[in-house]
Formats: sequence, structure tokens, C-alpha cells
Amino acid sequence: MRNEILEYFRKANGEFVSGEQISRDLGVSRTAIWKQINVLKSRGYIFESSTRKGYRLIYAPNLLTPLEIGSVLHTDTFGRKVVYFETVASTNEEAKKIAREGAEEGTIVVAEEQSSGHGRLARGFYSPFAKGIWFSLILRPKFFPMEAAKCTLLAAVGVCRGIRRMGLTDCGIKWPNDILCHGKKLVGILTEMSASMEKIDYIIMGIGINTGAKKEEFPEMFRESATSFANEGVEVSRKELLAAVLAELEAEYRIAQTEGFDKVLEDWKDLSITIGQNVRVIFNEDSFTGRAVGIDKDGCLLVDTGTEVTRVIAGDVSIRPADRPVDLGR
Ligand code: BTN
Repeated sequence: MRNEILEYFRKANGEFVSGEQISRDLGVSRTAIWKQINVLKSRGYIFESSTRKGYRLIYAPNLLTPLEIGSVLHTDTFGRKVVYFETVASTNEEAKKIAREGAEEGTIVVAEEQSSGHGRLARGFYSPFAKGIWFSLILRPKFFPMEAAKCTLLAAVGVCRGIRRMGLTDCGIKWPNDILCHGKKLVGILTEMSASMEKIDYIIMGIGINTGAKKEEFPEMFRESATSFANEGVEVSRKELLAAVLAELEAEYRIAQTEGFDKVLEDWKDLSITIGQNVRVIFNEDSFTGRAVGIDKDGCLLVDTGTEVTRVIAGDVSIRPADRPVDLGR
């Protein structure tokens, strides 16, 4: 009912709405409406009230509360259940906990801030209060566990499309699933899985999208390598962005489940900024350079070193500037 009440105020666009009218339309008492308005007030919404005219919504908080997300969501299942935190250590850790307890597919864990957000290779992930979208999505796919690695590519496709839809059209995917904009990292994705030999129990897609932090706000170690919507000069509503990303993720996930991963790989290639570039690959203590020439059916990056085409299963790939070409020896 709370969402329906909020919808009235959104449609009224800052004008007064009569409590009596809402109670009649929704078939509930005026006291029930008044109680819900008080709950909204306790969550940061500000209303002006007039005995004659009713209520007027003056301010809706810029937070990713279940209410705010629900008001703009257009998915079937993704994001329909939200576990919300103002502050949490890591949304991935919380998502794993509730997945083990049986949380349904599509449930998301969202936080305004993470105190120990983390990424691939045990790196920290900067997640300041309300300056980005930090969330984890729980999936329970019917794929074989060996297919799960490709979910990481699927995640990149969905997130990249959602971001482009919200106006940052210059972003693209660096293998396997970072989203970059003008060479700097806008999004990090950490996919984790629990499975037996024959069955996936759950997959957690942990996604961090920088929206509000300006260059000088990033910790020094990320200042040159990270970017955000604000840095790129694009203003975005966090909840609309989250809704767009969830819609694209849901659509791509459905494709993977019904048609298999071939289409996902094609979509990934269309959004890739890695293929055709000179790259450096670092894996454990080793590193080599070459030209990224494609990805194979398992999602591995194919790198032409000049003497052979190497299949990269895991590792850190950086795109090398065009003025430092790789000598392919031909
Ligand atoms: C990376 O860049 O290596 C991946 C970063 C993933 C960050 C997201 S933010 C939400 C979720 N919670 C975490 O602790 N990590 C992921």
C-alpha cells in the first residue's frame, strides 16, 4: 500500500493530494493512510499537510530503499525482493548468508555504503555513502557449474547496457567484466558461486557502479584509474540506474537460460572495448603482451602474442595505449 500512496504523490508532482481521496480509491481508512504517511516521514520523506487540502510531498530522499527502488522497477523478479542496509561490510557477504538460508532467485542486497567492499583478487572496493550503487544479486540458474564462469560475461553485458541506456554511451567492457569509460573504471563486478559437481546452489553477482564521487574524492590509489557518472559529466538518478541495470540483467539472463550462452557471447563482443586492442596479461607471477583477437565459446580471451594465440582463462588484463604497440613479430 505504501508504494501505491507514494505513486499518488509522484503523479501529483508537488501538488496537494487529499487523504480522503486516496483512502476512497484504495479502499482503506484515513487512519491507515495517515499511519503510512508517518512511516514515510520516519524514512526521510517530508510532507506538508493542510486540514483542507491534504498532503503535499516536498522531499523524497535520494536513497535506494526498497520503497524507492520498487517505485521505478520494471522487472519480473530481479530486485522484487530487497534486503537494504545503510551501512554493511560487504553486500556479497550478506547475499551469501541469505542465499545459504534459501533466499529466492532475484533477491538483491543493497547498501548505501560498504565498509569492506571487495573485488577480484582480494582487492578493496571503494564504496562511499550514496555515491554509487553497491549491490549483490542472487541467482539460482539451471546451468552446469562449468558454465557459471560465463555468468560473469552476462553480468557485464547487462550492466553495460543499463549504463548506456542512462546516458553514458561511451562505456564498454574490458575482459572479463570491468566497465570502463574513457579508459577508466566505472564498474567492478565480482561473481561468486556455491556449487556441487553437478549443480549450482547459488551465484552471487556483486556489482559496484560509481555514480557520484568526483575525481578528488577517490582515494589516491584509485584517483587516476577510476571514474564515475559525475566525473563524466552525466547526472543520473541512482534508483533509475539500478532499475535499468536490473531490467537488462534480467533480459540477458533469460536469453542465457532459454537460448544458451552463444547469444550472450555475441552481445559481449558487441560491447567489448578489449578485442582489437594491445593488452598486457598478468597471471600470478607471469605477464605477457599481445593483441586481443577474440573470445572463445567458454569466454576465455584469445591473445595473439606474435608466435601463438594464447587462451586466457583468468588474470588481470590491461589495455595498452596505442603509442606503446606490441611487436607481433610480423
Ligand atoms: C572488482 O573490481 O574487482 C570487483 C568489484 C566488485 C564490487 C562490488 S560492490 C557490491 C559487491 N560487494 C562487494 O563487496 N563487492 C561487490
